[in-house]
Amino acid sequence: MENLKEIVTPLMDWYKKHARVLPWRDEPDAYRVWVSEIMLQQTRVEAVKPYFQHFLKELPTIQDLAQVEEERLLKLWEGLGYYNRVRNMQKAAVMIVEQYGGKMPSDYEKILALPGIGSYTAGAIASIAFGIPRPAVDGNVLRVLSRVLKSYEDIMKQSVRRKMEKEVQAVIPKGHAGDFNQALIELGAIVCVPNGAPKCQECPLSGMCKARIDGVAQELPKKTPPKTRKIEDRTVLVLLSDNKAALNKRPKKGLLAGLYELPNLKGHLSQEEVLVFVKQLKLSPIRIQKLPDAKHIFSHMEWHMAGYEVKIEEPTQEPEGFFFVEKEQMEERYSIPAAFEAYTEYFKNR
Ligand code: ADE
Repeated sequence: MENLKEIVTPLMDWYKKHARVLPWRDEPDAYRVWVSEIMLQQTRVEAVKPYFQHFLKELPTIQDLAQVEEERLLKLWEGLGYYNRVRNMQKAAVMIVEQYGGKMPSDYEKILALPGIGSYTAGAIASIAFGIPRPAVDGNVLRVLSRVLKSYEDIMKQSVRRKMEKEVQAVIPKGHAGDFNQALIELGAIVCVPNGAPKCQECPLSGMCKARIDGVAQELPKKTPPKTRKIEDRTVLVLLSDNKAALNKRPKKGLLAGLYELPNLKGHLSQEEVLVFVKQLKLSPIRIQKLPDAKHIFSHMEWHMAGYEVKIEEPTQEPEGFFFVEKEQMEERYSIPAAFEAYTEYFKNR
């Protein structure tokens, strides 16, 4: 294949018949496209759907997003992870209100200049919401293109992404930029799939796909393997006083910045060491019990967690840095990162 021209008609015909009905597709205004694309960056479509609906109901306009209190914003994002994504969205929303009267600008370069918006998201918003002929090349599209063109270049390289963006840019059909980009994404998501065998029998491009013709579809795309993750042992405490559990707020910078957490310490502590720690906080333990181990995987590291439940006498004063919240409050008000789920679940279901 000299260029991607050949794929346009079969791909567009296929998309008309097979596009999934998704909540952000029926009314593709810029805000809805933006929210959905940011959510979809690290999370599967099925998991995103309920978050998307709830987020739009709570914050129906860019203005609402710009003004919402951070705690409430983080609560809406709880469980999606990578909280800086939503913090950047709020920064961008403030800029849109201040500079563009609360409306997403219908200009690719201006969209791209907003915090948290890279070439993929800018291309998606520009093309889907405004019909601007710009490519939106994400991991799905890189996989489809690597296979169709039988390219062994490393898709983790910025230069390769830019090359693929150029290839797409050259063939975007007039007046159909949004559907063409979504068709490429959709093909990658449901036919030219990443794990296991691609469904070439269902693919509208199988007759022209170089990788398929040469029997190498499953070898592609080529990616440099991600760095191995650092493993950190931690001990997490469910400190219970009556129906309350202890929380503290993480530092403003770094991993899980500014979110609430269960008390936790570096290393795997023994029962005795945990009791020493609890007493150092000037709390009086009544009973200690080991909880099941748990693991949480971040993009760059893993926490291997040991857990303890410690019942304590009602504190006369809260230890520095910690505070005690009731079960209901914990669910309604505080966004506790998914890393602690194994242990907060334990507390919530008591
Ligand atoms: N993954 C990323 N963006 C998507 C979209 N717009 N539709 C379906 N899956 C996606």
